[in-house]
Amino acid sequence: MGNNLLKGKKGIIFGALDEKSIAWKTALRCHEEGARLVLTNAPVALRMGEINKLADIVKAPVIGADVTNMEDLKNLMEGSMKHFGGGFDFILHSIGMSLNVRKGKHYTEMNYEWNQKTLDISAMSLHKVLRTAWDMDALNEWGSVVALTYIAAQRVFPDYNEMADAKALLESVTRMFGYYYGVKKKVRVNTISQSPTRTTAGSGVKGFDGFISYAEKMSPLGNAGADDCANYIALMFSDYTRMVTMQNLFHDGGFSFTGVTGAVIEQMGS
Ligand SMILES: NC(=O)c1ccc[n+]([C@@H]2O[C@H](COP(=O)([O-])OP(=O)(O)OC[C@H]3O[C@@H](n4cnc5c(N)ncnc54)[C@H](O)[C@@H]3O)[C@@H](O)[C@H]2O)c1
Repeated sequence: MGNNLLKGKKGIIFGALDEKSIAWKTALRCHEEGARLVLTNAPVALRMGEINKLADIVKAPVIGADVTNMEDLKNLMEGSMKHFGGGFDFILHSIGMSLNVRKGKHYTEMNYEWNQKTLDISAMSLHKVLRTAWDMDALNEWGSVVALTYIAAQRVFPDYNEMADAKALLESVTRMFGYYYGVKKKVRVNTISQSPTRTTAGSGVKGFDGFISYAEKMSPLGNAGADDCANYIALMFSDYTRMVTMQNLFHDGGFSFTGVTGAVIEQMGS
């Protein structure tokens, strides 16, 4: 049951692919908290049909958009403003895709054309979303935009490959656009840096099982799950976080500030 945290708020959720998606859980949470929603994903993801189940539950229209395509984004925001009867209050950017990872290319042998596409989909797309909202004056004052990231932007996790660079760029766009949107309209822009989570995108990382159990052992609270992440995002869309902007917020059970844990030492043996 919700607490009406988002009563009267309206927003767009990008990236709900299936029930495991962080965006899927967030849409459910925001709905429970009283928000009105528009759901969107790439046309190829929509063809899988899963999102219609979510749309029924949260009573939201689905408007397809390839996040790298400015025309699609314009159409999405126009459709959303029509649905909401004006501007809206929040956007979740929950999008990631690495062509080099998907095609098994090692970081040192990167295909640069694929890399351009990866950076476009996973990082510059946030700029494109914000730019479209800015140009159309789609976000209300004190609006909130959240994008999802990972700690490989700050520290090396070798198998995260080119996505480490994409997340670093995403976090930079968050700060830069966050500055301008804050000054212009008190809109805040933040990233949430989430624990490894079993989703379609997450499981694409090589050696994911080892990765997730290492993080579990290295986090005093254990890994943060997708449901907890959804709660945090809902809070970031609420009026309780109005003065938080341009931040990278770790949602990782303490992993980011832990040097070592008893559980890891024990495993190392004598
Ligand atoms: N799962 C993890 O371990 C983890 C950890 C930290 C951060 N994240 C981040 O969380 C976000 C959501 O990922 P997830 O784990 O829920 O996986 P997911 O696979 O469920 O979601 C990724 C989404 O990106 C969408 N997408 C890909 N290309 C697109 C395009 N061109 N246009 C529009 N949408 C497109 C996909 O359709 C999908 O819905 C990503 O940014 C991911 O990097 C995930």
